[in-house]
Amino acid sequence: MNFRGLLWSLFATSHIIDATDEHTSLDEPFQSSFHHLQHSPCVTLYHRNGRAGCGTIDRETQAGPIYYYDGSGVPNGRDFVAVIEEHQLTSTVINSLLSSNVNGNLKGIMVLNGTDADSSNDYASQGPIYPLGYSTPSQGISYGNNAFPWNAKGDGLIQYDLYGVPLVYINEYETSYYIRNAAKNRNKASEIYTQFNYYMGPDGINSKDCLQWHDANSGKWNPRCLPLGGVSVWGFAGSPPKKSNHNYPENYDENAANGGGRELANNGYYSASSSSSTGLFNVYKPAIVVGTSTDSTSMFHDLVPGANEGASNTLTLLMAAYLIGKSVDDATLDALPNRIVFGFFDGEAYGYLGSRRFVKDVLNFGCGEGLRVRSVAKDDTSDMACLYPMRPSMRFKDLNEIAAFLTVDQVGIPVGDGNLFVHNSGEGGMGTFLANVMKYSGTSYFKATASAAGNNANEYPYPPTPLSSVLSVTGGNVGGAVLSGYDYAFNKRPPYQSHLNWIQNQDMNLKSIASAATILARTALAGAYDNGSYDYETASSYAKNLISELSIDNEVLLELANCLFVDGKCNLLNKFASMDAANERAKTNFDIGVGSSLGKPPNYYVGVYNTANGQPFVRVGGEVFGAYQGNDYGNNKNDAIGMQPKMLQQAIRNMLDTFLGKGSMVNAEGSEVSARACSTASDCSNVQYCSTDADSATCSANKVCVCKRGFYHVALDEAINAAPNNSTGYFEMSSSDAGASPLWTEPYWNNVGVKMYRYSSSNPGVFVLLGGAIFLGACFFVVVLLKVAMKKQKLY
Ligand SMILES: *[C@@H]1O[C@H](CO)[C@@H](O)[C@H](O)[C@H]1NC(C)=O
Ligand SMILES: *[C@@H]1O[C@H](CO)[C@@H](O)[C@H](O)[C@H]1NC(C)=O
Ligand SMILES: *[C@@H]1O[C@H](CO)[C@@H](O)[C@H](O)[C@H]1NC(C)=O
Ligand SMILES: *[C@@H]1O[C@H](CO)[C@@H](O)[C@H](O)[C@H]1NC(C)=O
Repeated sequence: MNFRGLLWSLFATSHIIDATDEHTSLDEPFQSSFHHLQHSPCVTLYHRNGRAGCGTIDRETQAGPIYYYDGSGVPNGRDFVAVIEEHQLTSTVINSLLSSNVNGNLKGIMVLNGTDADSSNDYASQGPIYPLGYSTPSQGISYGNNAFPWNAKGDGLIQYDLYGVPLVYINEYETSYYIRNAAKNRNKASEIYTQFNYYMGPDGINSKDCLQWHDANSGKWNPRCLPLGGVSVWGFAGSPPKKSNHNYPENYDENAANGGGRELANNGYYSASSSSSTGLFNVYKPAIVVGTSTDSTSMFHDLVPGANEGASNTLTLLMAAYLIGKSVDDATLDALPNRIVFGFFDGEAYGYLGSRRFVKDVLNFGCGEGLRVRSVAKDDTSDMACLYPMRPSMRFKDLNEIAAFLTVDQVGIPVGDGNLFVHNSGEGGMGTFLANVMKYSGTSYFKATASAAGNNANEYPYPPTPLSSVLSVTGGNVGGAVLSGYDYAFNKRPPYQSHLNWIQNQDMNLKSIASAATILARTALAGAYDNGSYDYETASSYAKNLISELSIDNEVLLELANCLFVDGKCNLLNKFASMDAANERAKTNFDIGVGSSLGKPPNYYVGVYNTANGQPFVRVGGEVFGAYQGNDYGNNKNDAIGMQPKMLQQAIRNMLDTFLGKGSMVNAEGSEVSARACSTASDCSNVQYCSTDADSATCSANKVCVCKRGFYHVALDEAINAAPNNSTGYFEMSSSDAGASPLWTEPYWNNVGVKMYRYSSSNPGVFVLLGGAIFLGACFFVVVLLKVAMKKQKLY
């Protein structure tokens, strides 16, 4: 049961404040209205070696009178709850509070919404100064110069272990106003208490401990946390590799498969006739992966707007895919020596979860003996999958070889007017070629120029993007280039990995985003065109001729921008996600619906990996597992593998099908075959324009059959796998764990939040409870249930 969800829904219904309350009267709001304060908590996460984030010491609530902290001294020897302004959410202020806390008098911290009051202030970035690099839990998977201060203004507060100190953000401006005034009045403030109920697990344990938690008495395996993770979406442009939908050998020779056009002998996978004029390069040609991160984070996981991070990254990459689909047909793409692949990687902020899994799997994945099966047991046209380690689709194996990664980051607010920046060490190869092409592929609004970041460095610093994954996994053998809106340091505004990284005060620059999409699409095509000569002038003019500049008035761009920056529940995302879900239902018979939306305003926190958020599950007979190691799969006709991604990922997959899946709809003479209408994928069998070897069709949200181009991939820390024969939610350490990844997990928590009350000396033990009786009753019920459950464990 999801206590967190239940509690949040309860909070949502609680009355906060009556706007007609008189500003000077404290009694009204503090007697009833503030019993359950609307807030966003800083929560605890565990990692491989410890914890980060906030929480109370134990299950007892922590309370104290509020105290307005302006940086100058704290109450002497008595308990207090510090009230600070938004712009004071810095390591300096928090450190000074912590250093004054020798006797444990600091009972909690409340951060006020100060949007108007201090709009002149520069807000700190709570992200680390070396994101995913030196002195972060991701240090072990970084690449090259990992101590380059990309987030120069970052103070790393996000990584602090604030065990014993609950910290919350007060969302509402008006509520913040009352609390500020009350806290500033020292006489009144000493009578106004804030109580925190935010226990998030004990000190001194780590992710492995909580994933492997066994109950003290019964010895039963009973994990106390879930890993962070989600779903990546990837897709390719052009026809799929030959016969990938058919059985191919369990352990085929990967090296023999390298090199465009080479056929594998004696394994039944390729027939001699598969080499046609357009198919010559179509077997295992090297992939140019155009990738980005689709997520972000902040101190407060329900406030992760990520406007200049996950949101603008996703928008740019989607528009690049749109441009390729619109400008280049499959016949043209199939004749090129390299394949364009798009990668929307999830969970990147927590250790490149999506991109590392993807790269490692493409290069090294081996399915357990005898565990490679059809994802829908009785459907010979369904994708191959692996039961253990669980992979819902093995289509990533079609890629086999990665030529380079081309990534994009934070182009929503470019630092320079007219300039975007290119990062590459200049050591040659495909990466340097791509960097050179980018400089030739600018638009009428933005050109790409070399970043100054490497100029004075001993070792070339790459900014944190999915490119770092391929560099790190291959030890630098496969490289690439980054296109960014920043030069040698992230912009001050909006602050990186902050709850303020949003559009309220600053619109995203659509000229920059459209230009970046154009540059990426052109560069990807030039990369696909290159025959090993690295002739970037010829290649870039080839690409420029085919791909014209994306207009900033393009409707898809505008509509998607509104979805990703403003309203994550928008019709467009919903429409594409609904169709993706319908296709999946028709195929697997699992009751897959539209997954949870980004929300409004959108939230780009990756979340925990569970069945509601991308953890695949397999039905074997009457049971459902997170992975399966046995022989019974397929005995029952309903056996299948399914998953429920979030709405954004579902929408992205159907958009990739829609943008890139026209197949041979446009024939050599340029005339268009009319598309077949559909309401789900089942209407799209034997579609003529998706009939090249191994191709298949699915239904687009536009209600026409398109060729299948988008796929899901697990985005989960490489150190763990779903445990075989167990239900979802159980994870074991991978036997190949190298001990390098951060392994972030989120504990199950049972908070009932924050409340404020007036301390009455005549009757000190009794809180004034006026309204909200039903609400409290429900909470009480939950708490009792939890206590019973927890007592069974050592945790309580
Ligand atoms: C702060 O308050 C303003 C005004 O009510 C609101 O629009 C804004 O969303 C709040 N800020 C955050 C980060 O929640
Ligand atoms: C590779 O492409 C270049 C032009 O970019 C051309 O001059 C050269 O002949 C090509 N090489 C091969 C082997 O096709
Ligand atoms: C999983 O269950 C199957 C029976 O369905 C059994 O044959 C197999 O040995 C089990 N695997 C493990 C690892 O327990
Ligand atoms: C997990 O699977 C193993 C192997 O089949 C089994 O022995 C164990 O009871 C399962 N544990 C849980 C909690 O399901």
